[in-house]
Amino acid sequence: MNAPIQWPKAVNEIPKAIFTDAELYEREIETIFHGAQWHSLAHRAEISKPGDFKTMLLGRMPVIVANGEDGKIRVFFNSCTHRGNQVETASCGNRKAFECPYHRWMFRTNGELAVCPGSEEFSPGFDKKAYGLRELRTAEFCGLIFATASADTPPLETWLGQVAGTLAGALGGDGRLKLLGYQKVRYASNWKAYSDNDGYHAPLLHVGFRLLGWQGGQGSQTPTPNGHLAFESQLKPIVNREFLKDPSLIDLKATDPESGSRIAQLFPHTVITKHMDVINVRFATPISVDCTEVHYAYFAHADDSEELVRHRIRQSSNLLGPCGMISMEDASIFNRIHIGSFTPGNAAFQKGVKRFDEVGFDVKQNDESGNLPKWNYYCELMGFQRSEVA
Ligand code: FES
Ligand SMILES: [Fe+2]
Repeated sequence: MNAPIQWPKAVNEIPKAIFTDAELYEREIETIFHGAQWHSLAHRAEISKPGDFKTMLLGRMPVIVANGEDGKIRVFFNSCTHRGNQVETASCGNRKAFECPYHRWMFRTNGELAVCPGSEEFSPGFDKKAYGLRELRTAEFCGLIFATASADTPPLETWLGQVAGTLAGALGGDGRLKLLGYQKVRYASNWKAYSDNDGYHAPLLHVGFRLLGWQGGQGSQTPTPNGHLAFESQLKPIVNREFLKDPSLIDLKATDPESGSRIAQLFPHTVITKHMDVINVRFATPISVDCTEVHYAYFAHADDSEELVRHRIRQSSNLLGPCGMISMEDASIFNRIHIGSFTPGNAAFQKGVKRFDEVGFDVKQNDESGNLPKWNYYCELMGFQRSEVA
């Protein structure tokens, strides 16, 4: 059995063991993913027509996000109300109804049980109305669909708090988006190593950005007490671009450099970015203690011209994904943090840390101290006691 994890006294340190401990991972699934948090599962633009659906995992629980015949989006547990079979296995599609293949119970897209063969011989008093797919609490912000398995989760606007403005900005301002496509990846790292490092790192990591002489302009970070983090920054014009074969790839056609980048990191691990002309929602799922799956969903704004849509697709795949400027470096760092975390001791946050005994919310652009309110929240949520001694 592993030694109990000791949470350090200093608020700028976290124990590396939290990234590799299998028992802790099981507790996180129950406490965080099946607990009182909202989880974003889809954007309305992914399932825009009646009958459109998408399947996802909420922690370990399979769910279906479905646009009903009535145009209402609902989230159901992906489990037949007969014997519990997983009903839908496709990752997305369009259905008139969801049919469970085991005994052919058929559910309408609004979840109602429509057909159950042989029901005249079912147990006395059987009522189809009581056997609809089980629906989760849902809420929507700028087209982003959230669900929670808990009745104790606060209203979505309260839960989002101060991050809401940046989130709206990242989703094109009004959330009226059009789906361009997906890239799906499994990172060889714990979900916390992914979430702690995606959307934030000092601009030292990305070689492509350095070659372009491109660092962030002015900007800000806003952490919330419940673990979210919002980034806003201007983009400095790129001066050194002539060595590129096609400099138009890094043009800003839709983005005002002054309003630049918007990144919202939502607890526990969803990242929504508008960086350059790339609008991207990263739906993450913990698969195991050492594996995290992320679906990168790319969007254009609904009002974009055809030319702008083409530009967004080219820029998206040149920035992110297997051929992108930055994704290989990101994936490597997530994995190397995981490997390094099998050694004893703590990881430390330094830049911008003013006090070691109190979490601060006064954070500048590129400070590492912006991550600390989230870690403090996580520490309390998971019931860790801080060490008394430094
Ligand atoms: S388990 Fe689904 S119809 Fe029996
Ligand atoms: Fe990165």
